[in-house]
Amino acid sequence: MNLFDKMKNYSALTEDFMKKHTDSFYENEDFAIAKDAVKPLFDSFSYSLFAGGKRLRPFLVYEFCSLCGGNPEDAVSYASAIEMVHTSSLIHDDLPCMDNDDMRRGKPTNHKVFGEDVALLAGDALFLYASVIATDNGFDAERNLKAVKLLSQSAGVTGMIAGQQIDMWTESNMPDKKILTLLQEKKTGALFECACLLGCIAAGKYEGTPEYSAAKSFAKHAGLAFQITDDVLDVCGNPEELGKNVGSDEANGKTTFATLLGIEGAKALASEETGLAKAALFAFSNTGRGVSSLNELADYIITRKN
Ligand code: IPE
Ligand code: IPE
Ligand code: MG
Ligand code: MG
Ligand code: MG
Repeated sequence: MNLFDKMKNYSALTEDFMKKHTDSFYENEDFAIAKDAVKPLFDSFSYSLFAGGKRLRPFLVYEFCSLCGGNPEDAVSYASAIEMVHTSSLIHDDLPCMDNDDMRRGKPTNHKVFGEDVALLAGDALFLYASVIATDNGFDAERNLKAVKLLSQSAGVTGMIAGQQIDMWTESNMPDKKILTLLQEKKTGALFECACLLGCIAAGKYEGTPEYSAAKSFAKHAGLAFQITDDVLDVCGNPEELGKNVGSDEANGKTTFATLLGIEGAKALASEETGLAKAALFAFSNTGRGVSSLNELADYIITRKN
């Protein structure tokens, strides 16, 4: 199956699962007398969650589960959980107090439609609901504890949130390449790594296994290539194709890989990192399981238009 058909199938699986859960919130009998009161929250998080999006992090969960010998469909709860965390981070990232952006996933940003107050709650709601959805599976408690702990660490104060803080710091400070790399490893890399490792955990491959280490290495390089490309697209992308406005980083005075290395330098580094990501997959070559989808994904990460 080609990469895009596979991405489409996995997206449908994730979206059905997320929908089942989000609908159950609105149908919760606690709110029977207050449906109108909670509706803005329900509409707000549903709006962003089902606005499209590439669903790359779920894709990584399914693919690494499969590569580690698991059944990818068994990983749907972990894939959905990480997509919820990611979507919540986008809602907050776009707020006026953060990047102040108006377009996301081809539509007006959440706060433009629902207001900043509701958008803040919608982001919080998805962020926390992820831990609930993650455990809706047939796995034992030990496996789910590992998964939820990893998700919280990756998204939280030692992961994505720290990255967002360093990102804001660059608006009034000049990072060198080392700090910029740390920024990206946290802001974007942490959830990329989490996605790959959740796939391993879903297949019962935990820390200390060669599969887990290889997944970490793939994520490190693919995540960096992904964020460098995001920075380049913010300068050179086409808003129609991108689904978000360009020039956001410049408007916020941020230093990015595009400004630090120049467009050609940034593209060259992204390409180098893609090569390293693919090299990490050699660790799976004696398993008899194919890595062609992940190789294709690695190429797509740097050639994508959105
Ligand atoms: C955008 O992520 C935010 C970054 C981490 C750079 P994606 O480009 O994966 O966004 P969606 O999910 O496809 O909208
Ligand atoms: C966002 O990075 C990363 C997170 C949401 C954690 P960016 O601010 O570069 O993402 P875009 O460009 O708005 O999608
Ligand atoms: Mg940002
Ligand atoms: Mg942003
Ligand atoms: Mg960006």
